[in-house]
Amino acid sequence: MNIAVLGAQWGDEGKGKLVDLLTPHFSTVARYQGGHNAGHTVFVAGTKFVLRLIPSGILHPDTICVLGNGVVIDPAALFAEIEQLEALGILVEGRLVISNRAHLILPYHRELDVLSEAKRGARKIGTTSRGIGPAYSDKVARRGIRVGDLGDVASSAALEDAVRENVEARNRLIGESHMDWHAVLDGLRQAWARMRPWVRDVSVYLAEARRAGHSVLYEGAQGTMLDIDHGTYPYVTSSNGTVGGVCTGLGVPPRAIDGVLGVTKAYTTRVGDGPFPSELLDATGERLRAAGHEFGAVTGRPRRCGWFDAVVVRHAVRINGLDAVALTKLDVLDGFPEIPVCVGYRAGDRRIDEFPGELGLLASCSPILETMPGWTTPTAGVRRFEDLPAEARAYIARIEQLIGVPAAIVSTGSDRDDTIVRGDSVVAGWLGGRG
Ligand code: GDP
Ligand code: IMO
Ligand code: MG
Repeated sequence: MNIAVLGAQWGDEGKGKLVDLLTPHFSTVARYQGGHNAGHTVFVAGTKFVLRLIPSGILHPDTICVLGNGVVIDPAALFAEIEQLEALGILVEGRLVISNRAHLILPYHRELDVLSEAKRGARKIGTTSRGIGPAYSDKVARRGIRVGDLGDVASSAALEDAVRENVEARNRLIGESHMDWHAVLDGLRQAWARMRPWVRDVSVYLAEARRAGHSVLYEGAQGTMLDIDHGTYPYVTSSNGTVGGVCTGLGVPPRAIDGVLGVTKAYTTRVGDGPFPSELLDATGERLRAAGHEFGAVTGRPRRCGWFDAVVVRHAVRINGLDAVALTKLDVLDGFPEIPVCVGYRAGDRRIDEFPGELGLLASCSPILETMPGWTTPTAGVRRFEDLPAEARAYIARIEQLIGVPAAIVSTGSDRDDTIVRGDSVVAGWLGGRG
């Protein structure tokens, strides 16, 4: 079985925890898009790991971790992450496969990200300033530099030209300081010396893995609402975190995806700017933030919080063909006397049930809330579905009804073990064994 695990909201749904939990059933975990803008937090026996670029499967020693062509790689960030992991006792060397077709994030991309945000002023996106957008812009504009270019001796003059032209373009744009293209090129040559043993044709690698009967978990970063095509454009990231990104970002055919699991919080958060219809700007929102420790794993920014939005998750179910969702952070709702759920939007006298593509229309939407009773017995740490309070089970059942797919997994804490995998669910069927 080859399964995709991806975000059904605006990111930070708990993908890292879920990938870590499911990894023992897979031989390989492959990231297909995004870069070190991602921050996937995993707690193992009380130790906190934050994975940015490296798949969350790395915490299980027998797993191979792949970075596909759809990922953008900042070599300095990659090496720093490897060192951090190794300092915590996780061996990375020998377990990493990197696509020769993945694009690189270079120092000028980070600067251009910051500059572009400053230029947008009040319309800023609130990016992670990691150079993600400019690196993908260069890819689409066909002037990007790919990992494999660094080792392609036959065209080293072309690499030199590309680096010089890109740095000179940066110098024209920024004006006040000049970057030396020779230094950038030297940095790339040093990065290549280290990365070289890991670089492969990932599509070929994964096809061979499938032929040998191995199973692959495709790990998404960001979430459906941050997808460049299907999210709240332009308040999105620059890649496809939705399921189509698996095919384009790894070179695998659609039939090599046997199942899709969406990860969603039992409420909603968003970090950065842009529309968020069920956002709470009051003390209740603050209470969710405090209870859920909702601060960005990458930038430390406070996350905006709001009630569960069924319009958003239905959008994710349709676009990704979700078989099921993993409903995370249910415990954060412990102690709320009532829990509203957004079931649709109202714009003037119109009811809207499908997430609008137009920012103006979205701005005029207010959430239609339906209120569910809260529960008094905590769900934190509950590990059997039948041990959840009846009101929590009713809340989950209502969400399932609204989004049209089952909550196959319910998460009640950040620890690996604070998880309920429902025995009769499609996910339990997928986890028949390690390939
Ligand atoms: P990701 O980017 O989707 O991997 O999510 P993040 O790691 O950025 O954010 C999710 C946060 O919630 C992390 O700090 C997790 O440790 C934490 N978390 C995940 N599941 C649960 C849960 O069920 N309950 C609680 N309280 N925390 C959780
Ligand atoms: P994970 O994988 C939440 C948001 C940024 C900003 C927008 C564009 O941990 O869920 P970018 O730097 O990508 O150009 O920023 O996307 N963003 C995320 N929000 N979780 C993430 O990743 C995110 N990665 C990017 O805050 O709004
Ligand atoms: Mg995150």
